[in-house]
Amino acid sequence: MTEAILLVGGKGTRLRPVTMHTPKPMVPAAGVPFLTHQLARARAAGVDHIVMATSYLAEVFEPYFGDGSKLGLHLEYVTEREPLGTGGAIRNVASRLRSGPDEPVLIFNGDILTGLDIRALVDTHETSGADVSLHLTRVEDPRAFGLVPTDSTGRVTAFLEKPQTPEEIVTDQINAGAYVFRRSVIDTIPAGRPVSVERETFPELLASGAYLQGMVDSTYWLDLGTPQAFVRGSADLVLGRAPSPAVPGRCGDRLVLDGATVAEDAKLTGGTVVCAGATVGEGARVDGSAILAGAVVEPGAVITDSLVGPGARIGARTVLNGAVIGDGARVGADNELRDGVRIWCGAVLPDASIRFSSDQ
Ligand code: GDD
Ligand code: MG
Repeated sequence: MTEAILLVGGKGTRLRPVTMHTPKPMVPAAGVPFLTHQLARARAAGVDHIVMATSYLAEVFEPYFGDGSKLGLHLEYVTEREPLGTGGAIRNVASRLRSGPDEPVLIFNGDILTGLDIRALVDTHETSGADVSLHLTRVEDPRAFGLVPTDSTGRVTAFLEKPQTPEEIVTDQINAGAYVFRRSVIDTIPAGRPVSVERETFPELLASGAYLQGMVDSTYWLDLGTPQAFVRGSADLVLGRAPSPAVPGRCGDRLVLDGATVAEDAKLTGGTVVCAGATVGEGARVDGSAILAGAVVEPGAVITDSLVGPGARIGARTVLNGAVIGDGARVGADNELRDGVRIWCGAVLPDASIRFSSDQ
């Protein structure tokens, strides 16, 4: 059995991604709070003890996940008084770990959706004898990530967090936000002050000659940093492209949860999820979108790649494309909202107020 640390603090967590009242890790993806997928995947890989390191919002995680027993896990929560950064957060929970000094401890960023073979990462770590092993993925534009060049054996040669100049972009391999640390390495992180694992711990370990091993693969990987990515991730979970044992139903073109009402001639495609208590009216078409609990989609609405927050209402014939509608907002009939528009929670948009199409 293995244990893990889940990082769910810091600034990112606080940002309400979808002008919604729900904090990011608890926004439903494929019908359940996003974190459920990470927890269930870890469990399926044989992890039985997880410490959630939070700097904020422990009060929303604990009432929902409790002691973790529903997921077959033993879950603990540690809340930082002030955010300690990624490395500081890891060090801060060290006393909760049960592993011996040479045993592997998994660490996950809390905002990643991935098909990572967790066991394979642990195996790589154990056979290589590395101090730290990192999951790496390739992306087109690596600038928003930690760059991790490796040699021909996969040994990490440098760690460059968020490169600033073109010369620093030496690879398209990035830190995918999942690590295995040898337990004793965690104890070398300074305690009681903010530490960035990316800017401080990894570069210092490399400078001191420590052995960091990369495992690069091409499995599903998505950073859920933006609402658009979140909508994509939810749809990919429903479609089965992003594997998770926590999807509440069979994977396919759509997921309609118990207590949702969908008109017979409504068309749901592309991994659309309709959550409990939500209603989709006659002739509506919803593609690649998430309709959250209690939301109402009126007849004839056409919704693509969008997120409709809990209790929001989308008027008849309204078109949404790449839109995010906050909790309880009301978008009247015959509107057209596109390309990243975000409607505040509770806002009211009268019938026929906005359109993009030309006069014809
Ligand atoms: N407990 C705690 N305390 N957690 C934190 C803190 C903190 O002070 N700061 C950040 N975290 C958590 C975040 O909640 C997130 O789950 C994870 O640590 C990474 O922090 P982000 O703020 O999301 O970092 P990022 O997305 O800019 O970059 C990180 O992820 C990339 C992959 O998505 C880095 O690890 C990059 O190197 C990596 O490529
Ligand atoms: Mg992030």
